[in-house]
Amino acid sequence: MGLKAKGKQSSTSRRISARHFQGALDRWFRKHGRDLPWRKTRDPYAILVSEIMLQQTQVTSVIPYYNEWLRRFPDISAVARSRKTDILHAWQGLGYYSRAHNLHRSAKMVVRRFAGKLPRDPLELQSLPGIGRYTANAIGVFAFDQSLPIVETNTARVLARLLNIRDPVDSKSGRLKLWNASATLTPHCGARQFQSAMMDLGVLVCTARDPRCPICPVKGFCKAPYPGSLPVKKRQPPRLAMAESHSFIVKRDAILLERCRDRWAGMWMLPRKRTPATDPIHTAKFAFTNHTVTLRIFPGGRRRLNSVQRWFPIRQLQRIPIPSPHRRAIASLLTASR
Ligand code: ADE
Repeated sequence: MGLKAKGKQSSTSRRISARHFQGALDRWFRKHGRDLPWRKTRDPYAILVSEIMLQQTQVTSVIPYYNEWLRRFPDISAVARSRKTDILHAWQGLGYYSRAHNLHRSAKMVVRRFAGKLPRDPLELQSLPGIGRYTANAIGVFAFDQSLPIVETNTARVLARLLNIRDPVDSKSGRLKLWNASATLTPHCGARQFQSAMMDLGVLVCTARDPRCPICPVKGFCKAPYPGSLPVKKRQPPRLAMAESHSFIVKRDAILLERCRDRWAGMWMLPRKRTPATDPIHTAKFAFTNHTVTLRIFPGGRRRLNSVQRWFPIRQLQRIPIPSPHRRAIASLLTASR
């Protein structure tokens, strides 16, 4: 987006005309904007679900989960009434399960404190678990068309380039500049359309790698001499390696599982075990926050159950929440043992 800036500029000429920028962006969005399921609704609950799902997951992965979630839990009181296991089952595969726990807790609080209706006030929304400034403003913008700033990954990239913000986007000063920039550019009317357009510009044109500056509808406003070099991020700590060992124990038509704690609390996984000196029957790697976990599964013998272990009929496995790496391991080992 944008070509090399021409020389040093005064602080006045660095400011861009919000109105002209909005106009150029809007013309582009009307032609090229994406048709996403959560853009067809004004229901704040549906918007909340979409925003929570989109926090750590790509749009294409979210769409089927979003549709199925609304079929299973058509309103916030349906979430509030549901058991944790059904909530986790519907979330299974999306990862970052604290989002599902928080959505469940928020739903219960909305029923208790706000008579089952999500509040319009972003500060009240921020009092709910898992809802920070971004998500509260996104609900205000997309459900109620309030004029509020929005800064998430895509809009942060667009804003950093547009205004040549060189502070790391994940630093305090960077965040402050980005939120201020968004507040300055957001129109009083039509914020919903504007913020949708900013996101789509980030995804379709002002891409993280190789931004498509020659076709950018707002390149004339861009202050970054080298847009591809922005946004700057603080140095990320290296990923830590972890190893986890579990047993595969099947008896007739049942499999032994163990209730998860911590990371996957409320879900069921293969029983943990100390790593033996033998070869595993299944190995896989998966990412978890800043860890790369090597999962190794070993054949297990007979053993006494402890209080967090249970036998489950294999034909019922579809109905219980199992984290994806364990579900894949079970599917692969059951297929191999047949
Ligand atoms: N990413 C986060 N929120 C989004 C939204 N509402 N539409 C598209 N991408 C998003």
